[in-house]
Amino acid sequence: MYQDTRKRLEALNKIGIALSSETNVSRLLELIVREARHFASADAGSLYLVDLDKNCLLFEVAQNDTLQKRTDLKPETFKPYSLPITKKSIAGYVAITGETLNIPDVYNLPPKAGFEFNRDFDKRNRYRTKSMLNVAMKDTEGKIIGVLQLINSTDSQGKVVSFGTSIESLVSSLASQAAVAIKNAQLIKEIKAVFEALIQYSVSAIDARSPFTAGHSKGVAKYTMALARALNDTHEGPYANISLTPAQLEELNYAAWLHDIGKIGVREGVLDKRNRLSDSEMEVLTNRFECIKASAITETQKKKVALFQGGGENPLTIRELDRELAKQISHIDQDLAFIKKVNTGAFLSESRLRRLEEIHQRRYLGVGGQERNYLTDLEFENLSVRKGNLTKDEIEEIRSHVIHTENIIKKVPFTGDLKRVPFFAAGHHEMLDGSGYPRHVRAENIPLQTRIMTVADIYEALVAKDRPYKKSMDPIKSLAVLKEEANSGRLDKELVRIFIEKRIYETKEDG
Ligand SMILES: [Fe+2]
Ligand SMILES: [Fe+2]
Repeated sequence: MYQDTRKRLEALNKIGIALSSETNVSRLLELIVREARHFASADAGSLYLVDLDKNCLLFEVAQNDTLQKRTDLKPETFKPYSLPITKKSIAGYVAITGETLNIPDVYNLPPKAGFEFNRDFDKRNRYRTKSMLNVAMKDTEGKIIGVLQLINSTDSQGKVVSFGTSIESLVSSLASQAAVAIKNAQLIKEIKAVFEALIQYSVSAIDARSPFTAGHSKGVAKYTMALARALNDTHEGPYANISLTPAQLEELNYAAWLHDIGKIGVREGVLDKRNRLSDSEMEVLTNRFECIKASAITETQKKKVALFQGGGENPLTIRELDRELAKQISHIDQDLAFIKKVNTGAFLSESRLRRLEEIHQRRYLGVGGQERNYLTDLEFENLSVRKGNLTKDEIEEIRSHVIHTENIIKKVPFTGDLKRVPFFAAGHHEMLDGSGYPRHVRAENIPLQTRIMTVADIYEALVAKDRPYKKSMDPIKSLAVLKEEANSGRLDKELVRIFIEKRIYETKEDG
């Protein structure tokens, strides 16, 4: 209870400071109602916001000390609803006229008032609303953005009394401060929403350059956030005392969404490489093998002509030449079939590599009479990859995405609570035992946030649709891979344990 105006003004000032530092809209609305109730010794209070698009008042917050003390309070007691803006309801009247309504007893409204009090809530909850102070919340331009409603002022004995007139202007001033704070918080929320949407759409577009990575960042952010929240709920093990604040969670969310943005610097052909040779490269190679066959036929024809010209056209020798040609053509076809197999295979055995080497070195007479190899050096390099289908250079190019990510995000002015976004994102391919990349740092230099992302990243990549270097894996096998990685000291054991035990892998949507 505030004894005099000076004390009330001081309190008002303090409330103003508290309001201006809260940027989360829902927490801010709760704070406004709580402080106003405390200020005016009100048992209950509600807050409505004007929705101009729908021409209605949205019931946002309700607090009621008496009801909240009850053990049988139902969760739906204060469920949100909307109210048309008309002069028939008390809140609607205030939202339209901007007048302050200080009512001693809402069950005894003056007949000429024009508005009514709806007793449904009281009946449902065995509550008696009596005194009520309603003030309009006006922004700096005098526009009404909401209505603050204080209910049942209580005296020092807890008896419901009328709201004193002396308090009206103070509550009104508090409501105006609150209106400014709400506008600011809404503005911040809108700017954040635009920024987030921009990040999400651009990252999704980059991911969609290849069907192999489409939806990847979204999935990683989903698992990352679910794992981080689960970590906050864990009260045992090495992370029992870890609790990431809402600001830290927001920072992590940005890092997870942006972790692969650097893939924009990786060529599509590499990102999207399905086979060792691309379709067009394979077409060139197939055409060349047709030429090799044609060249073999021409050579045989030449030999036959030479025989005729020399007068030694022995049918046996001719047949010999034809047999030789048929064998040659069959070999060329077999070589091409073998190359086609190698082209789509995931592994290349030692014996296959040797055969590939032989084909590479084989020579034919090309156009212009020049001798050429069956395979170009580049084709051989691509085909002779032992595992997967990426050459060393291409693997390096893909790995460079982490550096691109860091360079790109560093240019985004992430400050304050978000300043470590580039740092967290840049380490998502580092492993605890130092076997990761690009910096090969070890556990002590890998922050928890990055470790969370790494678990999420690997799992998403494993279960996602077919990738260039592997088929998609089912969840059980993928979780086994995570466990294996944790046991070998590459991934954080505790995070993998939580990921599996809390079924983070089943997370459908973020949120
Ligand atoms: Fe990555
Ligand atoms: Fe990734």
